[in-house]
Amino acid sequence: MLVLGLESSCDDCSAAVVEETVAGPVLRSLVRESQDAIHGPFGGVVPELAAREHLLQVRAVMAGALAQAGAGLKDLDRLAVTRGPGLVGSLLATFSASKAVAWREGLDWVGVHHLLGHLNAARFASPDLAFPALVLLVSGGHTHLYLAQDWISLQLLQKTRDDAAGEAFDKTARMLNLGYPGGPLVDACARAAKQAADPFTPPKFRDGKASWSFSGLKTGVKLRVERDPRLAEAGAGDPSVQGLCRSLQEAIAAWLLKPVPGLAEIHGARSLVISGGVACNSRLRSEAAALAKRIGLALAIPEPKLCTDNGAMIAAAGALLTPEPDPWSQNADADLKLGA
Ligand code: KG4
Ligand code: ZN
Repeated sequence: MLVLGLESSCDDCSAAVVEETVAGPVLRSLVRESQDAIHGPFGGVVPELAAREHLLQVRAVMAGALAQAGAGLKDLDRLAVTRGPGLVGSLLATFSASKAVAWREGLDWVGVHHLLGHLNAARFASPDLAFPALVLLVSGGHTHLYLAQDWISLQLLQKTRDDAAGEAFDKTARMLNLGYPGGPLVDACARAAKQAADPFTPPKFRDGKASWSFSGLKTGVKLRVERDPRLAEAGAGDPSVQGLCRSLQEAIAAWLLKPVPGLAEIHGARSLVISGGVACNSRLRSEAAALAKRIGLALAIPEPKLCTDNGAMIAAAGALLTPEPDPWSQNADADLKLGA
């Protein structure tokens, strides 16, 4: 089955052609238009600008993915597109365009939950993953831990009470004037550090419920910059800035992985999947590898280009879903729930 997958839930407009084979999905092409230059000056995504840009990009990314794969619309069996959750204006660009193309060409068309996409990004390298699996989805908008019994179901186990982990990276980069988006820049700075700064104190929850909190990190970084204003100007080459990035990254990786051993035991998990933009993080990847080895879990973290938002993960998830009998009445849904 040949599937064209489209994703535009936030600020990346991406399309990919994926061939679903008996051995799993094979990536035939992947095109992504970044909007970093547009949103960078604002330090975060501006929804209206993102939506307008997607409208300009959608035709080119579709055509680009088909050309790179050496395929035409007539060769496709199915179109898959992110239905939600996300920014509604952004979602609508690829949602409406793909619906129109599928209707005109008489192709199957499936709407995909964005997080099922992130899970299925792991299917490219680990098509035979052992279930049940713990699935840690970490991005600019999500910090959620799920239990999956297969590739198309996710049951929420715990999530952040406030900011997503990606937001802590992005806001830190902003306070240190490192640039946008912050995750890769903080990561590079942390890797260059000879020594970590003082560690960040993990949050304590009085109600004892399992969850995460990352908003305290923002305050923590702010206080350190107030104490030493030079940090905001010194740049990525400065040892103190590097040390601060390393402490932040170590804290985030350790906090994210902390619940994994306990939950793996409770749920009899056999694998750990980590996906979403923050899964590109070097420290999180190495800590996860060490942890998985220690507690005997198979580990599946997609290669970095498949961790961040992309059309390939949507195609891979869409290949496993059954098209609705009347798909044309479906609409994009900014708050789409899993299983809806
Ligand atoms: O999944 P994604 O592309 O989009 C969302 O759905 O949010 O994730 C983007 C997030 C941003 O917060 C970005 O800073 C973060 O992923 N990110 C990273 C790294 N690469 C991207 N965070 C930490 N380390 C990285 N290397
Ligand atoms: Zn995402």
